[in-house]
Amino acid sequence: MNLQLAEDGRLRHLLTLDGLPRAIITQILDTAESFMDVGEREVKKVPLLRGKSIFNLFFEPSTRTRTTFEIAAKRLSADVVNLNIATSSQTKGEAILDTVDNLAAMHADMFIVRHAQSGAAHFIARHVAPHISVVNAGDGRHAHPTQGLLDMFTIRRYKGEFHNLTVAIVGDVLHSRVARSQIHALTTLGVPEVRVIGPKTLLPAGVEQMGVRAFHDMEAGLAGCDVVIMLRLQNERMKGARLPSAQEYFKFFGLTPEKLALAKPDAIVMHPGPMNRGVEIASEVADGPQSVILPQVTYGIAVRMAVMAMLAGGATA
Ligand code: CP
Repeated sequence: MNLQLAEDGRLRHLLTLDGLPRAIITQILDTAESFMDVGEREVKKVPLLRGKSIFNLFFEPSTRTRTTFEIAAKRLSADVVNLNIATSSQTKGEAILDTVDNLAAMHADMFIVRHAQSGAAHFIARHVAPHISVVNAGDGRHAHPTQGLLDMFTIRRYKGEFHNLTVAIVGDVLHSRVARSQIHALTTLGVPEVRVIGPKTLLPAGVEQMGVRAFHDMEAGLAGCDVVIMLRLQNERMKGARLPSAQEYFKFFGLTPEKLALAKPDAIVMHPGPMNRGVEIASEVADGPQSVILPQVTYGIAVRMAVMAMLAGGATA
C-alpha cells in the first residue's frame, strides 16, 4: 500500500520523496511557483485553507522548517497551533499517539511532524483518521521531503532545467536526511549526474546504488558542477569520532572560494541550514555572489504552501 497517495493518485500525506512520482513533484513545484507572488502582495493571504487547523509537532529543534510551515499555513488562512513539546504532556510520559489522538479530538486537519526517530511521521500517518494529513518535516536520518522539494524549486529557478545538470552534494551524507531526499528528487527529475563528495567515513556504504557517483576529494568531485550543495556535519547523529577535527575537515572538504572555482563559473551554492561557518563552508562563499542559501529559505514558504494546499485538495493561488 502506498501511504502517500490516495486511490485516485492524489497526495494524501507527504512522508518521503523516495518513490514519489515525477508528475507529483512537478505539480508541487508548479503550484509553488503560482504561490510566489502571494509573498509580494500587501495582504499576504489566500483563503484556500480557511477553517482548517494545522498542528506543528516539532519534537526536535528547528528554525527554518517550523517557521516557514507556520508562515505558509497562515498565508493559506489556516489556523496554526505550534505545540511546545518542552512544556507539553509529552514531558509527563504521554505516548506520541495519545498526543496525536487528543489533538485530533480538537479537530486537527493536518500534522507537521519533526522527530529524531526515523519513521515517526509514517507511524503517525498510519494511525490518523482518513481526513487528516501528515507532513514529514524531518525524521532522524531518513527523509526531509519539503527541504528536498524547496531545493529542487531553487535549482529550477536558477538553472531552468534538470536534464543537463551536474549536481554535487558535499559532506556528511551518511547522517543526512536532506541528502537522501535531494538524491531521490534529483534522480526522479532526470538530473544525469548526481555526485556525493565526502570522506569515506561520511558516505553511506553502497551509496552508488542510489544512482549517484561517489568522490572522496573536492578537486575531482566539484569539476564542472552546476550546483554545489553543502551539508552540515550532523554531530548529534554521529556515534563516535568519524573525523580527526573540524579544522582538518574544513581543510579538505570545506567550501572556500578556491575550491568553488573548480565548479562552473555560474555554479550556485546551496545549504539547507543551519550552517557551521568555517567547518563546511567559508563565510566568503556563504555570503558571496554564488550563494542562494537565503533564497532557499524564502522559496520554502511557497513550496510548503503548495504541499499543504495539495494535501487539502485545493492548489491555486
Ligand atoms: N533545513 C532545516 O531543516 O533547518 P531547520 O532545522 O532550522 O528547520
